Amino acid sequence: MKPEPPPILLLGPGGQVGWELRRTLSTLGPLVSAGRRGADHPLDLARPGALAALIDELQPALVVNAAAWTAVDDAEAHPQAARRINAEAVAELGEAAARRGAAVVHFSTDYVFPGEGDRPLREEDPVGPINQYGQTKLAGEKALAESGADHLILRLAWVYGARGRNFLLTMRRLMTERERIGVVADQFGAPTWSRQIGEACAQVLAQCRTGAGFAFGERGGIYHLTAAGQASWHQFAEAIRDGLGLTCAVDPLTSDQYPTPARRPAWSVLDSGRLARTFGVAIPHWRQGLALCLEELAASA
Ligand SMILES: NC(=O)c1ccc[n+]([C@@H]2O[C@H](COP(=O)([O-])OP(=O)(O)OC[C@H]3O[C@@H](n4cnc5c(N)ncnc54)[C@H](OP(=O)(O)O)[C@@H]3O)[C@@H](O)[C@H]2O)c1
Repeated sequence: MKPEPPPILLLGPGGQVGWELRRTLSTLGPLVSAGRRGADHPLDLARPGALAALIDELQPALVVNAAAWTAVDDAEAHPQAARRINAEAVAELGEAAARRGAAVVHFSTDYVFPGEGDRPLREEDPVGPINQYGQTKLAGEKALAESGADHLILRLAWVYGARGRNFLLTMRRLMTERERIGVVADQFGAPTWSRQIGEACAQVLAQCRTGAGFAFGERGGIYHLTAAGQASWHQFAEAIRDGLGLTCAVDPLTSDQYPTPARRPAWSVLDSGRLARTFGVAIPHWRQGLALCLEELAASA
């Protein structure tokens, strides 16, 4: 009998992106998942050593890390807990993967940027996070890069989907409950459907297969991965309202009128051209992704 190839280990299979990766990664090889809930293996990244022990046990060919502390505002009050998940656990992941010869795909964020600019940001543009979440994610990027593991870091932004906690589902709830809401109009990014992230990630990985596993080699490093186009939260909210056929008024607010514990970058539109040039993979305009996601929401209602 032919021996089973080493598995792909997915961390955080219950998250927005992890949920989609569960399906798309399973086309690439045997998939096992680890997380706090609904996973093949229990894993709490807050526990030092737990992830390294699991990697030693499973000896995966590839680890895809979709787990993170994503509560941006809560990270201001709990920076050390956020750092543990977003940086220290990622360092542990990199070291264990390097030791075992496993490749790593990790996700980072547009919030590593300070928010200045008026053109889509490239991977080499200067970083400078303005909140704790962004700082911990940047520390995670650096730790993985320094670990010596063969890796890809995909910086995502403004992720939404038909499940999980996200802007789309919050807007749908508020817009059905209220006649008028206010939404920030002076922060710009690219809303990106989690489904399309999962698909893009698998398309990239399909090109990085080796006989026994996956290798990135010279193509490794940081890539931006978002939908094309740009929007303010206010424009995104209006598109959601129109797509849902609702009538709620959406008033534009300034960030000052909507204070939050964590400051957000005003400009975090990412240029995903490097991924397109290297792997031929790109996500269409955000309005197209939104329309598809709303179709799915309607079908599942
Ligand atoms: N959401 C966005 O807008 C956005 C934007 C830019 C970048 N990103 C990045 O994209 C990646 C995926 O984000 P997402 O939106 O899919 O996040 P998400 O929906 O919040 O999911 C995060 C996942 O991490 C898991 N997790 C958190 N703490 C853990 C711990 N101590 N031990 C084990 N698992 C733990 C969660 O497990 P439970 O299910 O048990 O809670 C969940 O499965 C992250 O790296 C994030 O930083 C997201």
